[in-house]
Amino acid sequence: MSLIQVENLCKIYDNEGVKTQAVCGVNFVVEEGDFVAIMGPSGSGKSTLMQILGFLDRPTSGKYFFDGKNTNEFSDDYLADLRNRKIGFIFQTFNLLPRTTVFENVELPLLYDRKIIGRDRSNEEKIKEALNSVMMEHRMNYFSNQLSGGEKQRVAIARALVNNPSLIFADEPTGNLDSKSGTQIMKILQKLNDEGKTIILVTHETFTARHAKRILYVKDGNIISDEIVRERRIAKDGEMLK
Ligand SMILES: Nc1ncnc2c1ncn2[C@@H]1O[C@H](COP(=O)(O)OP(=O)(O)O)[C@@H](O)[C@H]1O
Ligand SMILES: [Mg+2]
Repeated sequence: MSLIQVENLCKIYDNEGVKTQAVCGVNFVVEEGDFVAIMGPSGSGKSTLMQILGFLDRPTSGKYFFDGKNTNEFSDDYLADLRNRKIGFIFQTFNLLPRTTVFENVELPLLYDRKIIGRDRSNEEKIKEALNSVMMEHRMNYFSNQLSGGEKQRVAIARALVNNPSLIFADEPTGNLDSKSGTQIMKILQKLNDEGKTIILVTHETFTARHAKRILYVKDGNIISDEIVRERRIAKDGEMLK
């Protein structure tokens, strides 16, 4: 059974009668443990696809099976719960709360989980472990706006990891970073993948995409090729992401 399977997936935005077909007729499968890069020009539907796969939006038509189950049949509440437990998101713009500490930013997903009340000790352990995995534990009490871009993205990764998700979506995670920090982020993503997490990375840079195991090319809302990366790049500290 595949982790993700989509059949004829379409998303048509409708703004007061103005229709935009962002994604249409998409078919593919992602197995657990894969590292997939989604590439394509601006406006080709990459973010829309990611939002549907991450349960942030629903398709207009087509089917999306997650862990073998048809997600069309899931309620919004159930999808939100599934998202919180199984999926982590990383964005180009980090999306951290400013004037809020690193610790508190990483704590947020734990507070959203209604089954966990308050700040128990195990929450603190989870937060420290997530920060430790991105080498940011020493900045725990800093405000997020006191960090460099690369450090912010590492904190955002810790926030994505704190619920121990099996699937991570990263939408242009290195887009706002200098190439050294970008390499560091790719190294972390590769490490997480080696540990068994499935990664779906959106990027428009070929060099970045070549750190994945597989590349899906998107054009005009559809997948035009699906290839295994030969001579995959392995991110090394100090190396430039270019
Ligand atoms: N909320 C929205 N309402 C209307 N059109 C949208 C919306 N979001 C994206 N689009 C359109 O859908 C298409 C795909 O967008 P997007 O998925 O953001 O592409 P990408 O991430 O590849 O740049 C574009 O034509 C974009 O203008
Ligand atoms: Mg986008």
